[in-house]
Amino acid sequence: MRLDRFLSECAVATRSESKRAVRGGEVFVNGVCARSADMTVEPERDEIFFRGQRVVYRKYTYILLNKPDGYVSATDDTRDKTVLDLLTPELRKKGVFPCGRLDKNTLGLMLLTDNGDLAHRLLSPKNHVEKKYRFKSKFPISHEDAKRFEAGVTLEDGYVTLPAKIELDESRDGGIITLREGKYHQIKRMLDSLGNKITYLERISFASLVLDGSRARGEWRYLSDTEAAELENIAERSQCSEK
Ligand code: URA
Repeated sequence: MRLDRFLSECAVATRSESKRAVRGGEVFVNGVCARSADMTVEPERDEIFFRGQRVVYRKYTYILLNKPDGYVSATDDTRDKTVLDLLTPELRKKGVFPCGRLDKNTLGLMLLTDNGDLAHRLLSPKNHVEKKYRFKSKFPISHEDAKRFEAGVTLEDGYVTLPAKIELDESRDGGIITLREGKYHQIKRMLDSLGNKITYLERISFASLVLDGSRARGEWRYLSDTEAAELENIAERSQCSEK
């Protein structure tokens, strides 16, 4: 792979920035100052330093987005803006897609990746990957309804949800819900079944990822190496449990 492509795929610099850095003597390959941005490198073998920082090759791209209101979790849509519109053209070209769905008016943590296998395993209903949501409801939730929620609720189509966790604020009309499955509009439908209504919904965690306040609504960042490795481990383990 060309050095400038390597650096842009690792999201360290654009191709033109890479060329400038090479000209400025700021890129080293196996201890030798790179002379040309189009030299060939072996991504998984060579030791590449960019402005003094080691650049480790990642086969896949993982992005944590803080989803704002009004965007649909799809790769394209004829009517609405999609979460991909919040990324760069380079990332869109790479083929990243949302790992799972949030409703258009649901906010918060969304993982986008080009690792189809990982997404498939994290979303597989067999694997019960945990997701946490902060919510507000129209009416306070009684002790009885909280118990029903935690036992599993029968939705309007007859589906019985898995037991879910609900931690209520003092006012009882909001708190944190933890799900281990992801049916269409699940939380809204669960609250509907209890004669209540969701007025605010924000995902605050997905598998090992947590919405940490480092990004405002509509902003995104790459996962750190540790976060990416942890997620890959979870996906790896779920593959093993499917065998
Ligand atoms: N449950 C819902 O109802 N909507 C979401 O976006 C996520 C979970």
